[in-house]
Amino acid sequence: MAKQKFAKESITIMTEMVLPNDTNTLNNLMGGRLMHLMDISAAIAAQKHCNRIVVTASADSISFKQPINLGNVVTLRSQVTRAFNSSMEVFIEVTAEDIPARKKIMTHRAYFTFVAVDQNGKPIEVPELVPETPEEIEHFEGALRRRQLRLVLAKRMKPEDAVELKSIFNLTEK
Ligand SMILES: CC(C)(COP(=O)(O)OP(=O)(O)OC[C@H]1O[C@@H](n2cnc3c(N)ncnc32)[C@H](O)[C@@H]1OP(=O)(O)O)[C@@H](O)C(=O)NCCC(=O)NCCS
Repeated sequence: MAKQKFAKESITIMTEMVLPNDTNTLNNLMGGRLMHLMDISAAIAAQKHCNRIVVTASADSISFKQPINLGNVVTLRSQVTRAFNSSMEVFIEVTAEDIPARKKIMTHRAYFTFVAVDQNGKPIEVPELVPETPEEIEHFEGALRRRQLRLVLAKRMKPEDAVELKSIFNLTEK
């Protein structure tokens, strides 16, 4: 297994057209359908990084700011931001395009976490991720803080062990 991989090696672009079966009664893309597409696109990015089977461990808060309309073309760009032991954080950006109207808007952003597992579902190590561009470095540096926050919220880490979070909130020991 490669010890290190570049962030760019995981870039995954997925494009879909919103069809009637994907929409609610207002002719907008259903949230659940969008989350399904996000999950698949992000899982492919995680697989590209580790060349293993991956499972979704968590999806950070996803807000639906802008509706995506019937007939729009949805593009999902996913990329691994950082790899830990067996887990990888993936950043997903969604854009919706009305091609005839020549309009394109960024509609959603989210972070998902995937864990690489063996055939028995047991977590296994993944290669380190090497960021190169300024954006990749920014995502990489913020990933530790986001990981600690999600693990504390999932009750998988004690708040007192979340050292990176303490440094942002400037919490000092009493
Ligand atoms: C994700 C899963 C493999 C973790 O297994 P586990 O036995 O709890 O393993 P560990 O406690 O050793 O954790 C393994 C990794 O998962 C990460 N993890 C576990 N739960 C997490 C969560 N809620 N959010 C983010 N990361 C999480 C841990 O931080 C750890 O990361 P690291 O190895 O990089 O340090 C296991 O919970 C699982 O199989 N869940 C179901 C996944 C699934 O079916 N998803 C699709 C349907 S929703």
